[in-house]
Amino acid sequence: MQLLLLLLLLLHLQIHTTHSAHIPEYKALLSAKSLIDDTQSALSSWNATTNHCTWRGVTCSDTTHHHVTSLDLSGLNLCGTLSPDLAHLRFLWDLTVASNQLSGPIPPQLSSLSALRYLNLSNNIFNGTFPTQLASLKNLQVLDLYNNNMTGELPLTVVEMPNLRHLHLGGNYFTGQIPTQYGQWQFIEYLAVSGNELNGTIPAEIGNLTTLRELYLGYFNAYEGGIPAEIGNLSELVRIDVANCGLTGEIPPEIGKLQKLHTLFLQVNALSGSLMVELGNLASLKSMDLSNNMLTGEIPSSFAQLKNMTLLNLFRNKLHGAIPDFIGDLPALEVLQLWDNNFTGSIPQGLGKNGRLKTLDLSSNNIASTILSSISKCQNLEVLNLSNNSLTGEIPENIGNCSSLFRFRVNDNKLTGPIPREIGNLENLDALDLGSNQISGNVPAEILGCRNLAYLDLHSNLITGNFPGKLRRLVLLQFVDFSDNLIEGTWPLHVLPRHIVFFSISRNNLSGEIPSLFCNLNLINYLDFSHNHFRMIPVCLGNMSNLINLDLRNNNLHGTIPKFVKCSNLRSLKLASNQLEGPLPRSLVNCKKLEILEFANNKINDTFPHWLVNLPKLQVLSLRSNNFHGSIGNHKTKFSFPNLRIIDLSHNMFHGHLPSNFFKYLTAMMNVNMDKGGLQYMGDGYYYDSVTICIKGNDINVEKIQTLLTIIDFSNNSFKGEIPKVIGKLGSLKGLNFSHNNLMGHIPISFGILTNLEWLDLSSNKLTGNIPVQLTDLTSLAILNLSKNHLVGLIPQGKQFNTFTNASYSENLGLCGFPMTKTCGNDEGQHPPLSSTIQEDDFEFANGFNWKVVLLGYGCGFMFGLSMGYLVFLSEKSKWLANSVYGKRHNKVRRSKKNARGRII
Ligand SMILES: *[C@@H]1O[C@H](CO)[C@@H](O)[C@H](O)[C@H]1NC(C)=O
Ligand SMILES: *[C@@H]1O[C@H](CO)[C@@H](O)[C@H](O)[C@H]1NC(C)=O
Ligand SMILES: *[C@@H]1O[C@H](CO)[C@@H](O)[C@H](O)[C@H]1NC(C)=O
Ligand SMILES: *[C@@H]1O[C@H](CO)[C@@H](O)[C@H](O)[C@H]1NC(C)=O
Ligand SMILES: *[C@@H]1O[C@H](CO)[C@@H](O)[C@H](O)[C@H]1NC(C)=O
Ligand SMILES: *[C@@H]1O[C@H](CO)[C@@H](O)[C@H](O)[C@H]1NC(C)=O
Ligand SMILES: *[C@@H]1O[C@H](CO)[C@@H](O)[C@H](O)[C@H]1NC(C)=O
Ligand SMILES: *[C@@H]1O[C@H](CO)[C@@H](O)[C@H](O)[C@H]1NC(C)=O
Repeated sequence: MQLLLLLLLLLHLQIHTTHSAHIPEYKALLSAKSLIDDTQSALSSWNATTNHCTWRGVTCSDTTHHHVTSLDLSGLNLCGTLSPDLAHLRFLWDLTVASNQLSGPIPPQLSSLSALRYLNLSNNIFNGTFPTQLASLKNLQVLDLYNNNMTGELPLTVVEMPNLRHLHLGGNYFTGQIPTQYGQWQFIEYLAVSGNELNGTIPAEIGNLTTLRELYLGYFNAYEGGIPAEIGNLSELVRIDVANCGLTGEIPPEIGKLQKLHTLFLQVNALSGSLMVELGNLASLKSMDLSNNMLTGEIPSSFAQLKNMTLLNLFRNKLHGAIPDFIGDLPALEVLQLWDNNFTGSIPQGLGKNGRLKTLDLSSNNIASTILSSISKCQNLEVLNLSNNSLTGEIPENIGNCSSLFRFRVNDNKLTGPIPREIGNLENLDALDLGSNQISGNVPAEILGCRNLAYLDLHSNLITGNFPGKLRRLVLLQFVDFSDNLIEGTWPLHVLPRHIVFFSISRNNLSGEIPSLFCNLNLINYLDFSHNHFRMIPVCLGNMSNLINLDLRNNNLHGTIPKFVKCSNLRSLKLASNQLEGPLPRSLVNCKKLEILEFANNKINDTFPHWLVNLPKLQVLSLRSNNFHGSIGNHKTKFSFPNLRIIDLSHNMFHGHLPSNFFKYLTAMMNVNMDKGGLQYMGDGYYYDSVTICIKGNDINVEKIQTLLTIIDFSNNSFKGEIPKVIGKLGSLKGLNFSHNNLMGHIPISFGILTNLEWLDLSSNKLTGNIPVQLTDLTSLAILNLSKNHLVGLIPQGKQFNTFTNASYSENLGLCGFPMTKTCGNDEGQHPPLSSTIQEDDFEFANGFNWKVVLLGYGCGFMFGLSMGYLVFLSEKSKWLANSVYGKRHNKVRRSKKNARGRII
């Protein structure tokens, strides 16, 4: 016996002399401490005067030998590096330093810890490659490197650890392919390589790991091909997470063999094909997320067998057909998200009757039924989103039973009837979106019961009555949209809660004053009172420092435009179609972010605001129909509007020459290649602006202003002299209107290179000479008006010019040839009235604008005038909202990038 001990001792000495000199374990620990930056003195107990077995995190085998068997330093805020001297803890079987900020390489010396079973280095910033020497850790069962900064290829070393049960390499920067050798372990239960930068194919050999219970391959990796069918051999699998890693092809039906599977996560890939019938065999399945793929077909009837399923996410695919009724009978279902597919039919009536449903999102499909009435047992329902379907009928009263409801959206349907009073029972409601339906009646007083309401959208309905001033008591409100309803009367005495960020009451029948109390809402970004009958503009509006968009168009506002003092965030100021007088406030130069300025149809008396050159971002300037006068400048004036795309000075009293230097620096209008990289719209993801363009006496509403839309309208002034040739450089120009002025001279030949031009109006001037034959090169030109000038000679023939009628040329001195009926020399032409009915198709111009005819009924000029429309949110509202209202909350939940990369708890 003694001999044996001696032998062992010698053996030890021999081993350790091959390394450094043997040092006692307490010294090894102190050495480790010396490399650690122990910011919070977590290791203060590590003191040579005491027994190391009593130190924090240290566990020893027994009191006689004092061999350290376990070292657990997790979550102690330790910085620094891991000491190679830890290799002297020869009896260590558990080394855990997880969740610190330890960095540097993993010491290869750890290879001598031959007893080690458990090595957890996760959630640190260890870097470099995995040391090959660690292959000697033959007893290792758990290796967790999750969430570090490891690089290089996935280590092959780990294949030589025959006893591995649990291997987590996720959340690092490993590159290359998953080695086929990873199919060799005999006991492995948990394998994670998610959240790296892996590529190549997922090896079929994974299918040899028949003991595997959990498999994580997704997130940030980008594989080629799909899931190998061999995965069907992994009969012990409980969880598969291969989301967000570029998978293509079909889901292998072999997955249906996995009788123990609880969780199947394949979302955010490019999987195609239909939902396999075999998936219905997964009787143990609890969670299935196949969202964000390209799956087609219907929900198979075999899914009726998924009795334990709690979560079914199939959103953002291309599925169709009716949502089967049995979905409503699934007894365990808690989350059902089928949005953004093409499902038709009705909402399964049983949905919710299991009393467990928490999230139901069927939005953006083609469902045409009433809202389900089984909602009565919805006490657990938190999210109900049925928006963007074709639902009819009324909002059921028993919605009031859904006491947990947090988000209720049924916008963009065909719902009728009133807002049920029972809504007021929903104390937890955060978002109520009923917009774009045919909901009628008053806003019920009971809505005050929704004490947590932050988002209230009732736009585009038939809501009547006065504005519900009581809303001020919903102190958490941030977003309120009542636009496009039938709300009338004067503004209630009180205003709104302090946290309002967005407020629109546009397109109602309100009158009276806009109360100056609004100026106290100092978080507000977006304020829209347009299209009402308000009379007064509160002076203090110019002091609202967070305002981004102010829209007061189409009211009855009198007086002068207030001073803008604190407007550093203002991007869009729209005051068109009021009775505003006086000059433009020079203080607007304080609003450095201004992009859109719209003053059309007022009585503003001023000269051309050349001082606006100080607004570097200005894109749209409309001064149309005011009392602007004087010349816009001369050849010495410094103009610089590098971003200007739309300028409308029409219907004013400007006179003088058109200075070339005005047009010379319109850089944005010269940039012909702007359409490269797809269509872009003004508003840049934050919101989209719209514009109303007046053609043939009708306003055409362009719902999003493409940045491609570049227009100059100087019509109906008294400009004189020649048309500057430099205009030929404005290559992206779509519309040019100089009509009804006193311009003389020739039509510049340079106009022949304005190849994007879609309408050109030079009528009612004193232009002379021939029509340049170069204009036939304007193949986008849809509308041309040269009438009422002094032009002579043969009308150019061919190409686009074959499409114009003689109305384009009438009342000139001596134009002749097609399409005029007159032969040359006969100077009288006929001009049949232009058709006043417009088909949308008439304006399918070259770039396919989103035209929408809006007959506003007021004459906006005989030919192509321009007036600004109102701001439309379209589907982007949700995006805007997500950023402004929900952004903060979501951020709170969102884990850091690194933490999001891989581990599912
Ligand atoms: C170790 O502990 C002793 C007794 O508690 C103390 O006097 C000594 O200063 C400590 N040493 C260090 C390095 O903290
Ligand atoms: C590891 O990180 C340290 C500190 O950030 C750095 O100096 C070192 O170069 C890194 N090593 C490797 C192999 O990336
Ligand atoms: C981890 O690696 C990433 C990517 O190489 C690098 O950006 C980051 O700074 C590294 N972190 C540390 C703490 O070295
Ligand atoms: C995989 O990534 C590595 C670098 O990370 C690259 O060299 C290799 O070409 C990629 N392989 C494939 C098939 O894309
Ligand atoms: C592992 O899987 C591959 C491919 O599926 C197979 O060819 C091979 O024989 C398997 N190896 C073992 C040891 O089972
Ligand atoms: C379904 O869940 C119940 C309760 O958790 C469980 O007893 C049953 O075994 C599960 N069914 C299957 C097929 O896994
Ligand atoms: C959606 O389904 C309807 C009716 O089945 C069909 O007419 C329509 O084309 C489908 N839409 C898409 C985008 O597949
Ligand atoms: C514009 O203002 C000037 C000077 O303030 C004044 O003389 C003129 O009459 C005004 N024009 C109109 C049309 O109001």
